[in-house]
Amino acid sequence: MKLTAVAFAVIAAALLNGAQAIPHSSVEDTAKSQRRHVARATSFPQYNFTQPLDHFTDTGITFGQRYWVSTRHYVPGGPVVVFDGGEVDAESRLPILDTGIVDILTNATGGLGIILEHRYYGASVPVANFTTDNLRWLNNDQALEDSAVFMTSVQIPGISENITAPGRPWIYYGGSYAGARSAIMKVRYPDIVYGAIASSGVAHATLRDWRYYDIIRQSASSACMAQVEKAIVEVDALLENERTHAEVQALFGLPNVTHVQDFAAVLVIPLEFWQDINWDPSISDSTFDDFCDAIGTPDDKTVKTAQGLTVSSATAKYATYINQQWASSCTPPSTQDDCFGTFNASQYQVYDLSQTWRLWQFQVCTQWAFFTTPPPDPATPRIISRYITEEYSSLICKLAYPPGQFFQVPATPNITDVNKYGGYNIAADRLAIIDGQWDPWRGDCPHSPAAKPRPDTTIRPFKLLSEAIHHYDENGLSNHTAEPPVIQTIHAQEVEFVKAWLAEFKAPEGA
Ligand SMILES: *[C@@H]1O[C@H](CO)[C@@H](O)[C@H](O)[C@H]1NC(C)=O
Ligand SMILES: *[C@@H]1O[C@H](CO)[C@@H](O)[C@H](O)[C@H]1NC(C)=O
Ligand SMILES: *[C@@H]1O[C@H](CO)[C@@H](O)[C@H](O)[C@H]1NC(C)=O
Ligand SMILES: *[C@@H]1O[C@H](CO)[C@@H](O)[C@H](O)[C@H]1NC(C)=O
Ligand SMILES: *[C@@H]1O[C@H](CO)[C@@H](O)[C@H](O)[C@H]1NC(C)=O
Ligand SMILES: *[C@@H]1O[C@H](CO)[C@@H](O)[C@H](O)[C@H]1NC(C)=O
Ligand SMILES: *[C@@H]1O[C@H](CO)[C@@H](O)[C@H](O)[C@H]1NC(C)=O
Ligand SMILES: *[C@@H]1O[C@H](CO)[C@@H](O)[C@H](O)[C@H]1NC(C)=O
Repeated sequence: MKLTAVAFAVIAAALLNGAQAIPHSSVEDTAKSQRRHVARATSFPQYNFTQPLDHFTDTGITFGQRYWVSTRHYVPGGPVVVFDGGEVDAESRLPILDTGIVDILTNATGGLGIILEHRYYGASVPVANFTTDNLRWLNNDQALEDSAVFMTSVQIPGISENITAPGRPWIYYGGSYAGARSAIMKVRYPDIVYGAIASSGVAHATLRDWRYYDIIRQSASSACMAQVEKAIVEVDALLENERTHAEVQALFGLPNVTHVQDFAAVLVIPLEFWQDINWDPSISDSTFDDFCDAIGTPDDKTVKTAQGLTVSSATAKYATYINQQWASSCTPPSTQDDCFGTFNASQYQVYDLSQTWRLWQFQVCTQWAFFTTPPPDPATPRIISRYITEEYSSLICKLAYPPGQFFQVPATPNITDVNKYGGYNIAADRLAIIDGQWDPWRGDCPHSPAAKPRPDTTIRPFKLLSEAIHHYDENGLSNHTAEPPVIQTIHAQEVEFVKAWLAEFKAPEGA
């Protein structure tokens, strides 16, 4: 993989769908798995819904919000199941309409299936470039209102009936960031959203998302995590020592990375791929497992290096892996700072529409945060360096979005804009919460170790999928009986509670 500075900034920043500074890149998926999704998708008609650029102040400007429709199982009069595309090009979500949760729920209910793209992503772009000023309509209030307006007024070509809410029951589904949106939609528009499913919904925004890597540490192979922990503690000590700092960077093949934080961040890259593991091998990413194979299992050996250091074999193997998989892909004319540096403000000053990394990153910097850090308690074991501070993880927010004439990125994201809907405790009747035990985002979901336990009921389903990672219930196989038992079970439960909700539906008077 050839990394450019900006490409790295995106990996670093994005951890969510794959989105943050070391985010969790878009709280979600890698470009690679998205391509695979597109490759196997059947075709569904694509339409545009006209939305105002600004729902709250009339600008006279509109844009086309893309959506795709499946009428495969639709029985006139049936419900509508809408899937929120979240912070990616929603075309990558089409398999969900074909063999995933939308197909499963519409098949079971005679429903109409829709994938709805989020403003600014994919082809639903309302602006000419992604400057700070032009990103000012990319926020929770505007994007939530898009969905509400769509649900209450869409008229689908070829369908003459009035399928809008609240006359019809709409079931809203989202995973990850879109999962948080699904929960928030149910709370904010209780009369429009009849039922909602929030899968891995990161409804609790936080400035220091230290649980992200802590959950990986507790979920991945213990031998591999013991190796990482041992190496990271050793590397941090070598970095702190002026006499060995340069040698340890050279050992990892990164002698010319100027800032120690940028060096420490490269060591985090393989860990970010944990969230791209999926139960379906055809979309699962093997990078994390390859890394664990390379780093081996604990032993008491030490290695004398070419730089004159004596290090554990864990550190030596980690160094070999980083050298081979990451450092070596950065070649002249790029410098190592071009590839791995995040401190050079000029590298971010590109605003054309191909710079899609600016989008989720902007949402992170303004409202969602999730900045990566090690655990606050020094006694808690850690698999990332102490140099990965909140200040470092959020540096891109200061450098990439110079103040505009009409908008400035705040000094700190206003996470109240997210958490005011309930955070971990977000709840409503006919809102289902589904999380994964091994999901690194679980710390930001209602199944966070920090959240209160809740009962699991039909009206408020609350399900933690055993050994599952990120929104594992979202995709499905064309042959459902070939899915692992935990996936078949959750799909059956989703069918069951959605049918139970629909059985109670009464159109409001006058609708
Ligand atoms: C949707 O609208 C965009 C402009 O907003 C346009 O480029 C595109 O062709 C439209 N697509 C369809 C299917 O109408
Ligand atoms: C569709 O639903 C029927 C029963 O309602 C079930 O037998 C069948 O397996 C379902 N098919 C899919 C693809 O979900
Ligand atoms: C971005 O687009 C605006 C119009 O929306 C234009 O005025 C501005 O010059 C553009 N800026 C850049 C850097 O392309
Ligand atoms: C369609 O149904 C909605 C309620 O879902 C109602 O408010 C609206 O007036 C109806 N539109 C038409 C054209 O009948
Ligand atoms: C580091 O910089 C030196 C001096 O510019 C250069 O000779 C060397 O090739 C660089 N090493 C790497 C791995 O980039
Ligand atoms: C900063 O980034 C710009 C644009 O990518 C590049 O031209 C410049 O050489 C970089 N400066 C340093 C000191 O690396
Ligand atoms: C942060 O968001 C909350 C809730 O939306 C709002 O009331 C508050 O004014 C915002 N704070 C700032 C500093 O903008
Ligand atoms: C579906 O998967 C099951 C379980 O793996 C297998 O027994 C069955 O043959 C498959 N059916 C088809 C049509 O491939």
